[in-house]
Amino acid sequence: MKKGIIFDLDGVIVDTAKYHYLAWKKLANQLGFEFTQEQNELFKGVSRKRCLDILLEMGNLSATQEQKDVWMIEKNNDYLAYIEKMDDSEILPDVPKILTLLKENAIPIALGSASKNALPILEKVGLAHFFDVIVDGNNVTKAKPDPEVFLMAAKKMNLSPSNCIVFEDAVAGIEAANAANMISIGIGEKEVLSQAKFIFKDFTQISTDFMKKLISN
Ligand code: G6P
Ligand code: MG
Repeated sequence: MKKGIIFDLDGVIVDTAKYHYLAWKKLANQLGFEFTQEQNELFKGVSRKRCLDILLEMGNLSATQEQKDVWMIEKNNDYLAYIEKMDDSEILPDVPKILTLLKENAIPIALGSASKNALPILEKVGLAHFFDVIVDGNNVTKAKPDPEVFLMAAKKMNLSPSNCIVFEDAVAGIEAANAANMISIGIGEKEVLSQAKFIFKDFTQISTDFMKKLISN
């Protein structure tokens, strides 16, 4: 059966977590508390709205929806200022090699991301042309670990979920892929992504043979 591959964006294709971190940290500091890199781990794969709620919980703060909307816009503007400066040097190692291999084998490629900034980022780093389907934070209503984002990508590729393979760096993303009945491949640490069917530290650890087997059976 024909296979399709779904990639998460942040932490899989590009390392934007550091920019999300700097933007959230600025807001936390402005509100009078610290925000650490370790705490930022909890934000991976999590929607902007939910991230703000978690941040406010960390600072023991509550706010009206109007105030939250203002902070989300501020945070996003700071994040966009970092994105503006991105170029292809920020693509994670061997990502173009894997995308090229898939294209050469006529395998459909989809993006399944919680980010509302997914398309501008792909365009900035020059990878948008690889993607046949893009499903992002603008299209879904339920955040990972809900499988909605990946199920929508499968549908748009005209493939059944069991023929889709997901590359993810977030625990919530691996849970979403498993819940969608897809093959989950974790990119990151074994200890963190233990629920994934396969785990690799990064794409340099994935052989051409492994990829060929993955897309052939
Ligand atoms: C990705 C990131 C999250 C981020 C979310 C929303 O899933 O891993 O850290 O909060 O996208 O991103 P956005 O660009 O819409 O604020
Ligand atoms: Mg991610």
